[in-house]
Amino acid sequence: MKNILVIGACGQLGTELTMQLRELYGTDNVIASDINSPSGPLSDGPFENLNIMDNDAFRSILKKHNITDVYHLAAILSAKGEQNPTFAWQLNMDSLLYVLEAAKDGLIKQVYWPSSIAVFGPDTPKVNTPQNTLMNPTTVYGISKLAGERWCDYYHQKYGVDVRSLRYPGLIGYKSAPGGGTTDYAVDIFFKATKGESYECYISSNTSLPMMYMNDAVKATIDIMNADPDDIKIRSSYNIAGMSFTPAEIAAEIKEIIPEFEVTYNPDFREDIAQSWPDSINDANARADWDWKPSFDLKAMTKDIISNLTVDAIG
Ligand code: SER
Repeated sequence: MKNILVIGACGQLGTELTMQLRELYGTDNVIASDINSPSGPLSDGPFENLNIMDNDAFRSILKKHNITDVYHLAAILSAKGEQNPTFAWQLNMDSLLYVLEAAKDGLIKQVYWPSSIAVFGPDTPKVNTPQNTLMNPTTVYGISKLAGERWCDYYHQKYGVDVRSLRYPGLIGYKSAPGGGTTDYAVDIFFKATKGESYECYISSNTSLPMMYMNDAVKATIDIMNADPDDIKIRSSYNIAGMSFTPAEIAAEIKEIIPEFEVTYNPDFREDIAQSWPDSINDANARADWDWKPSFDLKAMTKDIISNLTVDAIG
């Protein structure tokens, strides 16, 4: 019997992951928590208001709901992190250590914590980036994710903590607004296009980044958590890949469906962050160890998002 706590449930990934976990394990067994109040479908289930920097409050929620599994999604992302680096470091690191300590103390059985392609940097091979390679991240977000990966591996090796993690590419969904990432242009672009507006892109037209449709990201997350522990050979974090594209490529794909859509380019500091990250990711380990395989490419994702956003607008 699982009792799940999702930390950061109101975020872009949290919203969709929480809904899917509730489908699978029952609404009452999946407690959403966030520093913000829930809205939309999330408000139909159990919710705890939680600032994850408050370790006592976190531990009392674990006890109150007899939590077995924690999905710790709260973080300051790459672009926002650069505005307040010490706070981003504190939030991203302290909160992970609170969760890992709770697992070490036997309060929880399983931990999920997301890492990111931001762990890579300008010295990393850009194409088909391997699992183990030169890292040297340049954003505080990337530094915190790389340090977090090492902590996850450490708690697993030293204390047997069952922690599992994925290095997400840019995640693209349409059910909630993204918050503070570099890859979020690929979400904003759909909201503008389906409203009949043009889009000014803060990334150069030909900068390629690894991306993934939210449905695939949610599936990968649940799959790695359900995999046999012996199959999880990497306890830092797994590379996973969905697709790679440039702003010009996604704009062209959208124009296939909405021909009048226009994009202009005005790159800012986020272009430098994007330039420091890989173009594409090698996820051979995830495929071999726990059968990872994505379902959506750029065309399928674009069609799915536009049809859903257009139906929402009419409905
Ligand atoms: N989507 C994240 C960001 O852009 C990368 O993990 O910050």
